Amino acid sequence: PTLMSMGSDHHRQQNDHHQSGTVEVAALTGDISEPADVKFELVAQRKEITLASGAVIDAWTYNGEIAPELRVKHGDMIEVKLVNKDIDSGVTIHWHGYNVPNAMDGVPGMTQNIVKPGESFIYKFRAEQEGSYWFHSHQQASEQVRKGLFGTLIVEPEQESEIYDEQLTLINHRWETDQGYKKAFGSRDELQWKQVDPGETVKLSIINSHNISEKYLLQGTEFRIAAIDGMRIQDPQPLSGQTAFRLGSGGRYDVTFTMPNHPVLFKLGNANDESDPGVIFYTETPPAKPVFKTESALFDPSNYGKPVVNVVTETNKFDREFEMILGNKMGFYNGMFNFLWTINGEVYPRVPSFVVKEGDRVKTTFINKSLTEHPMHLHGHHMTVLKKNNVKVNTPWLSDTLNVLPGESYEVAFIADNPGMWMDHCHNLDHAATGMILHLMYD
Ligand code: C2O
Ligand code: CU
Repeated sequence: PTLMSMGSDHHRQQNDHHQSGTVEVAALTGDISEPADVKFELVAQRKEITLASGAVIDAWTYNGEIAPELRVKHGDMIEVKLVNKDIDSGVTIHWHGYNVPNAMDGVPGMTQNIVKPGESFIYKFRAEQEGSYWFHSHQQASEQVRKGLFGTLIVEPEQESEIYDEQLTLINHRWETDQGYKKAFGSRDELQWKQVDPGETVKLSIINSHNISEKYLLQGTEFRIAAIDGMRIQDPQPLSGQTAFRLGSGGRYDVTFTMPNHPVLFKLGNANDESDPGVIFYTETPPAKPVFKTESALFDPSNYGKPVVNVVTETNKFDREFEMILGNKMGFYNGMFNFLWTINGEVYPRVPSFVVKEGDRVKTTFINKSLTEHPMHLHGHHMTVLKKNNVKVNTPWLSDTLNVLPGESYEVAFIADNPGMWMDHCHNLDHAATGMILHLMYD
């Protein structure tokens, strides 16, 4: 069965009027009749974890680990069995940025039921996108992601020659520990030292799993931003080691460099903040005390590499145009008087859905009228960024989680090519938990 035929109007109408949801879900599962090339099991469980500094967290984990990594090859059929051991509120897995068939998207109450303690669920999909992704529970995601229910999905290119000598996945997270609040890459909340031979190629997959955007420094070498949100940049130019970059919640950058014959310093945050974690790459002798310099430039994706050329950049005609005004108000939510985050003045589930037809070219404009950033994440599709603050960007790029700063507006577009019911929400998960979500639905 192909998704194309399943999504046709004819089928759609039949499903809507005469059949139960079962048929629809089967149609939106993709072709999973072929055997899996690789199988994983992820057991959601509570676990006490000790960070590198000795601080202890009462974590909620997959497999008792912080950020387990699923590493697969582009094109593999992947099967992941999720088992819930003892997370009382139930769990799921959402494949963030991975454009899986709708039934595999892991949104409880929408694409599947919550997986309760003692229960399991099988996710199966083909790894059709190469790149760096992550996954996390989408059940009470604000609490569950904060406590550790996440991991990384790294899909390697088929070509061996495109694989880097050293590959490091760094997931930036904030932990509540017995020693207070800690910033960490995975479970490493301090600088770590790593020996690399001169001339070796290094790729860092950097993922931001916590709610706020953050700045990173990479010094001692030129480097390239090779991919944004898992999508490769064409012809990325080298950036000087005086360039910092900023990643919003849920976002990913793949950063690459060739090891020189002197140390390369990587860290989170500001040059002089010694409490931030990082990685010091060295060739022979580890530097005693790495000294970071304050950056002189900030990376700008709207002017980098070759512009993305696709159906949406080649046209000015859209079948649907939507606007999302990002704001806030005071009101009752889940029985409590609260500060609420709104889209078009409403809170979820009262925000009117966006309805599209399969094949539509869809344009969305985000307008941030609040005083806080909002990393806007669309499930199931990558957005092409076309305009920032009403001006065409020089290099349209692909994003699944676009950080919109206060006062900014962005015009993005995508092709409605993945039928189903999808979330479009702020990835500051506290904002999502207090209203900032809408649904994208296929007619
Ligand atoms: Cu990473 Cu709906 O979320
Ligand atoms: Cu937000």
